[in-house]
Amino acid sequence: MKQWQLGSQPGWESLELTERPDPRPGPGEVVVRLRAASLNYRDLLVATMPSRHQPGRVPLSDGAGEVVEVGVGVDCWRVGDRVAGMFFRDWVDGRFEHRYHEAALGGSVDGVLCERMVFPAHALARIPDGFDFAEAATLPCAALTAWSALFERGRLDRGQSVLLLGTGGVSIWGLQFAVAAGAEVIITSSSEAKLERARSMGAAHTINRTAVPEWDEEVRRRTGGRGVDHVLEVGGPGTFGRSLQSLASGGHLALIGVLTGFGPPESSLFPLVSKNADLSGIYVGHAAGFAAMARFIEENRIRPAIDRVFGFGQAREAYAHLAGAGHFGKVAMDFGR
Ligand SMILES: NC(=O)c1ccc[n+]([C@@H]2O[C@H](COP(=O)([O-])OP(=O)(O)OC[C@H]3O[C@@H](n4cnc5c(N)ncnc54)[C@H](OP(=O)(O)O)[C@@H]3O)[C@@H](O)[C@H]2O)c1
Repeated sequence: MKQWQLGSQPGWESLELTERPDPRPGPGEVVVRLRAASLNYRDLLVATMPSRHQPGRVPLSDGAGEVVEVGVGVDCWRVGDRVAGMFFRDWVDGRFEHRYHEAALGGSVDGVLCERMVFPAHALARIPDGFDFAEAATLPCAALTAWSALFERGRLDRGQSVLLLGTGGVSIWGLQFAVAAGAEVIITSSSEAKLERARSMGAAHTINRTAVPEWDEEVRRRTGGRGVDHVLEVGGPGTFGRSLQSLASGGHLALIGVLTGFGPPESSLFPLVSKNADLSGIYVGHAAGFAAMARFIEENRIRPAIDRVFGFGQAREAYAHLAGAGHFGKVAMDFGR
């Protein structure tokens, strides 16, 4: 079978296509023929940051496919089942434990940019009915992160307001979930065309963050001075302060992303105190959350926003497209192309 792996130098340009024998399942394991994958900003970090790059690592966390072989003792999966792999292979349910970092697909262990892969039976989830494999491959990281932030940790209620930053994978899944839940969405972007698309998907308010660099003031203005009930904070230190200023008293700020880096916030943390706000660190989610999310997606007939689909042989092009940040929603790969 074929697999892509990170080359000896950091950078997706050095990705290498290699061959290795088909894997076989051990007891309690399942072999999945992967049919599609999607890319996340995290995959750019893994490929390019010298501190994270590991030569030979098979990249990408998000893949979907069909079960082709089950090992001894597996009774929850059958050949032909349509499944997605979990980002944290061993986080099935409950509170996060440090040991789950030891098996983060495409990071601490090999990921899904390969034709066949062995999973422990507990590391798979059924994909929503009617989804093709590329659609299903958008779920394990971006969608589950937005789901965890809004529902597991944020306990989003109908009629509440949600602020989303930019129109990447996490934010657009956040938009779709929030709109389906009856929330009011405010979303920012650097692009008028992307904001128009967000409006067509149900965003009540859009703010061009390039034209309006003080977008937090605009968020407060649009909410009658109150601020929003939830923020999905994907920007990191460069946006945290404005996200906090955008938050209503008693609101929930989900700290998710590092688009502006990993450093400390460029602003005071005190508004968290004065607003009696909740702050959650979100790191994707667990398999039980994935199952609840899949049910919600089916009930609400949600389909992912996929910007572009690349073939299996176009891994470098897919990375370059994501890095260009012109996309809206998700960038996927269909291994049949
Ligand atoms: N903690 C977790 O579990 C978790 C899970 C998934 C992702 N993340 C993190 O969340 C972030 C987003 O991930 P993703 O995969 O959704 O990324 P993505 O699809 O690559 O989205 C990037 C988009 O974000 C917007 N953006 C870029 N810089 C921005 C800034 N300074 N302020 C506001 N918006 C900005 C841009 O949209 P516009 O062109 O529309 O402005 C850009 O296209 C990343 O830092 C990623 O590492 C964390």
